[in-house]
Amino acid sequence: MEGSKSQGIVKAPYGALKDGTAVDIYTLTNGNGAIAKILTYGGIVTELHVPDRDGELGDVVLGFDNLEDYVEKSPYFGCLVGRCGNRTANGKFKIDDVEYSLAINNTPDDQPCSLHGGLVGFDKRVWSVDAAEAGEEGPRLILSLLSKDMDEGFPGNLSVVATYTLTESNALKLTYRATTDKRTVINLTQHSYFNLNEASDTVLDHEVMIAADRYTPVNSGQIPTGELATVKDTPLDFNTPTRIGARINDDNEQLAFGGGYDHNWVMTKQDGNVNLQCSATDPKTGRKLEVLSDEPGVQFYSGNFLDGSLTGKNGIVYNQRYALCFEPQHYPDSANQPDFPSVILSPGETFESTIIYRFSVV
Ligand code: GLA
Repeated sequence: MEGSKSQGIVKAPYGALKDGTAVDIYTLTNGNGAIAKILTYGGIVTELHVPDRDGELGDVVLGFDNLEDYVEKSPYFGCLVGRCGNRTANGKFKIDDVEYSLAINNTPDDQPCSLHGGLVGFDKRVWSVDAAEAGEEGPRLILSLLSKDMDEGFPGNLSVVATYTLTESNALKLTYRATTDKRTVINLTQHSYFNLNEASDTVLDHEVMIAADRYTPVNSGQIPTGELATVKDTPLDFNTPTRIGARINDDNEQLAFGGGYDHNWVMTKQDGNVNLQCSATDPKTGRKLEVLSDEPGVQFYSGNFLDGSLTGKNGIVYNQRYALCFEPQHYPDSANQPDFPSVILSPGETFESTIIYRFSVV
């Protein structure tokens, strides 16, 4: 694909949901070759083209080429995740002694939980477009959503604004802001599936770094035990960049529970600033992805549940480990873990977070 030398943001229709709601796709070009395509449905990043070491553009995210597949079968490809990302044990939590119940939509090892905001999470909503414009750092798309009181079982009218910017320096930046009128829980993230070799192979040769000395071990239902365990002397230590495939089949209980890597790492540096959390480098193309965020944790998922049953854009069959996700967020099941950083948002407060996917070559 040829990169455009001009900067801009262009809207086109992308079909409609069964109820007739129209969906649009926005194409962002940063004038430096990079291109991002984003749907109003779920804020899904459907394509992200960045250069390799020879300057050749390639699409580094998994996705489909039509709306129906996104609606019917997407395992959270490229979407915005909320109101409460990751797993909540038994789909239940309490705020001020009132118990709230969420839909159960995930049952690892027969243990029920609510995953990624429930049955119709933010990934399955059509977001409003507040602006599609030239921003200071590059073209930007400002999406907003009102999640009504008791939407998917969560208390409070939650108003969310998600701004995507494709910066001139080949980074896709996402900022969130949210406010509520009742105490609620909030854990927003982004769920792009990255493959820096354009899904020509698995990601097992991608070299991953995660700036974390600890992680949150899980039980067989992928719910944190509450412990913050050291990564030292385990296959979860990525402080030194290591190939994903180097240890993924090690005899290790945590890897068995996740079917590979599917865990939350506890960032070593938690100072409220947007810091480098993790990176992945593909030796084949030289592409490097760095993820920066002010979130306290990152879920690193190695595409374990991809099993060849999904065929994506360009007719590519997505086999196991054909992508990785880096999901900056608060820790899983935080609503039930008093010792984890809080996910409670109260009226009068503004939730703010930033996720940056920055691309370069080595
Ligand atoms: C998250 C979870 C995984 C899996 C994917 C979607 O990353 O941690 O276990 O559910 O979403 O398939």
